Amino acid sequence: MPHRVTVVGAGNVGATAAQRIVEKQLADVVLVDILEGVPQGKALDIMESAPVEKFDARLTGTNTYEVTAGSDVVVITAGLPRKPGMSRDDLVATNEKIVADVVRKVLPGSPDAILIVVSNPLDAMCEVARRVSKLPRERVFGMAGILDSARMRWFLADALGVSVENTHAFVLGGHGDTMVPLPRYSTVAGIPVTELLPKDKLDAIVKRTRDGGAEIVNLLKTSAWYAPSAAVVEMVDAVLRDKKKILPCAAYLQGEYGMRDVYLGVPVKLGRRGVEQVVEIALRDDEKAALEKSAAAVRELFAILKV
Ligand SMILES: NC(=O)c1ccc[n+]([C@@H]2O[C@H](COP(=O)([O-])OP(=O)(O)OC[C@H]3O[C@@H](n4cnc5c(N)ncnc54)[C@H](O)[C@@H]3O)[C@@H](O)[C@H]2O)c1
Repeated sequence: MPHRVTVVGAGNVGATAAQRIVEKQLADVVLVDILEGVPQGKALDIMESAPVEKFDARLTGTNTYEVTAGSDVVVITAGLPRKPGMSRDDLVATNEKIVADVVRKVLPGSPDAILIVVSNPLDAMCEVARRVSKLPRERVFGMAGILDSARMRWFLADALGVSVENTHAFVLGGHGDTMVPLPRYSTVAGIPVTELLPKDKLDAIVKRTRDGGAEIVNLLKTSAWYAPSAAVVEMVDAVLRDKKKILPCAAYLQGEYGMRDVYLGVPVKLGRRGVEQVVEIALRDDEKAALEKSAAAVRELFAILKV
């Protein structure tokens, strides 16, 4: 039996994630959206590329949840994206209702699924999915850190003129203005970037990483999807193939990093059971303080959730 992944939201992020999953033949995918014809049309268009792209995985588009039954992983991208001038937090009231509705509809048919949340504001939407699903934290987590780190990796590779494959970057914290890029844990072929770039250049890269989402929103007038969908697919792959990969994800902390009952971007071990471990790394006092500030911003949003 092939794996089955449901992607809810057939917009920019969802449809591109679905495309990447079937092209890589990681799973059969069901793409769900409330817009009639859109998931069906995008699924058909992508399947018509299969003979040329040479994949046998199947993508089905639908407006209902029957076909999603038995999914191993559910990716939630349903909801509004931000527009210029908006922060991710401005989306909370609208997207809370959408994410809660999606979880209520998808879970009965796929009671064993792992939920990967993408909708913004990310850390708060993870909490909505956790509260509504009542699933353990292993099975409800969010995508942000891989995207934020990938942006930083690209900026580093570009600045140093080296392969992106050689760059590793470390970004912790919430997926917002308070995210915490950590240059001293970021490396090029194992060499800390603090050894390779002067402080002013590195500071500029850290700032650009933190503002990476807004940079795209200002250009496209909507939020990014190519890099976000690639980040989602890395997580889906790590889960389905039980890779035990260490990746930065939004995870529900239960004492790790001295924090409890809050979603925050931290390195986790991702495998078939989902978040199999939260990996703790030593932080300096200023880094710890930045992480706590990030957690405080996430908690402010938790406080206004209605679920
Ligand atoms: N976590 C991240 O790093 C990250 C990155 C990019 C985008 N995002 C977020 O992901 C979300 C989607 O972004 P996008 O660019 O794909 O937006 P989009 O507008 O292109 O697509 C969203 C889709 O969700 C659908 N939808 C709305 N309500 C629904 C419901 N109840 N059930 C099913 N589908 C529903 C819409 O019809 C639309 O097709 C946004 O909230 C955006 O902010 C997060």
